[in-house]
Amino acid sequence: MPINIFSSSDETIKTLARFFIETAGKAIEERGVFNVSLSGGSSPKKLYELLAAEYGTAIDWSKVCFFFGDERYVPADHPDFNALMATKALFDPLKIDAAQVFAVDTTLDPDSAASAYMEAMAAHFKTTPIRLDLSLLGLGDDAHTASLFPHTPVLAEKQATVKSVFLTDKNVYRITMTAPLINQSRQVAFLTFGPSKAAAVNRVLKGEKNIENYPAQLIDPEDGLVSWFLDESAASQLA
Ligand code: 6PG
Repeated sequence: MPINIFSSSDETIKTLARFFIETAGKAIEERGVFNVSLSGGSSPKKLYELLAAEYGTAIDWSKVCFFFGDERYVPADHPDFNALMATKALFDPLKIDAAQVFAVDTTLDPDSAASAYMEAMAAHFKTTPIRLDLSLLGLGDDAHTASLFPHTPVLAEKQATVKSVFLTDKNVYRITMTAPLINQSRQVAFLTFGPSKAAAVNRVLKGEKNIENYPAQLIDPEDGLVSWFLDESAASQLA
């Protein structure tokens, strides 16, 4: 498991952008398409902006299909909607066709939104198992990833699917790929930076195996590679 540590968040993001483009280029060359799942939150916004600003001609973006590892159960025009952030940072600047973007339909009820998303993925991939070429993931201070939060029922899900999850402490629903679905990815890349992540990074990578407390430990592709892209502050507790 490559753990890449950089002096700053900017260096971390620059390196991950190159990794993204290299991975995309290989997938497009080998299979004619690059299926990538984007993470949400604040960390990846600069990555998406950098890809749009500096890599607009590096690959054939018309061959890229975008999915979301998770989505907040809010309207599509809500500032917390991950697909809206990606649209502003990446899709609009690169003039990505809407047909290439698979966003969660939060006009449906949470369970229906999750099952509709899974159906849309299955229709796109056609064959099983659904194998994303790259899943980008972040890490919460509480060691969650995607919307796989500590002590939630979705952690026990054995199906490679998409589920809704109610977060009692936040009183909100999320829609998330399950760990088995993420673990079918060919590659997984965690982008994590900042001192607030240091404890979670150390617990996930070096702590006791405890997926209820540290759900990101669930990410362990059967036939895929997990890479970490960390800045020094996020890696500061790693021995
Ligand atoms: C989301 C993300 C989530 C995120 C972590 C880290 O929808 O919020 O998918 O898993 O990656 O919460 O978020 P930050 O990058 O904002 O710290």
